[in-house]
Amino acid sequence: MKFFADTAEIDDIKELAATGLLDGVTTNPSLIAKSGRDFMEVTKEICGITDGPVSAEVVALDHPTMMKEADKLRAIADNVCIKVPLTIDGLKTCKALTDDGTMVNVTLCFSANQALLAAKAGATFVSPFVGRHDDNGTNGMDLIRDIRVIYDNYAYDTEILVASVRHVTHVLESALIGADVMTAPPKVIKALFNHVLTDKGIEGFLADWEKTGQSIL
Ligand code: E4P
Repeated sequence: MKFFADTAEIDDIKELAATGLLDGVTTNPSLIAKSGRDFMEVTKEICGITDGPVSAEVVALDHPTMMKEADKLRAIADNVCIKVPLTIDGLKTCKALTDDGTMVNVTLCFSANQALLAAKAGATFVSPFVGRHDDNGTNGMDLIRDIRVIYDNYAYDTEILVASVRHVTHVLESALIGADVMTAPPKVIKALFNHVLTDKGIEGFLADWEKTGQSIL
């Protein structure tokens, strides 16, 4: 399963890239606003850190203006992936861009039928939002299971990009279901390293090592 970082914070992206775990980055207008950076500038900087897809979202609601925004965004770097909302105009834009060889991430997907539409429009990625489903009292991971079945039934190439990931259990379940990608805030990706027995193990080994009075260096 590929790991994307859901952030526009450069230091976090650089740190994750150094671990070799980072396969791409997703941003959205809220994350850009939180970074306080210029959209074009920060997107260019992120594209220079990872070779993987970097999702940059259009903000227009109509197809012609979405295309104009997408033209500006895809000129930033070859690894820009245009993010469009799951609307009729968003999917028209998806079709036009993917026909033209540009990667597209169809975002704000909340139903399996919507995911079917995104695949039929040729989306590179579909982003079902699991955390927001959970917030709403519905099980986000059930949506991922349904989409996996539908995409496998028809051998769609669209990759399931699990979004709105809030905790490590979302990551585990995504991997068990066979999602293609998950995007999570850096703190969730870093939490995947944690295990109390790892900490205890290090503590025990170091205590015994001290008793030997030796040093490796
Ligand atoms: C991903 O592409 C989305 O922008 C993101 O995962 C949304 O997460 P949130 O529901 O925590 O805002």
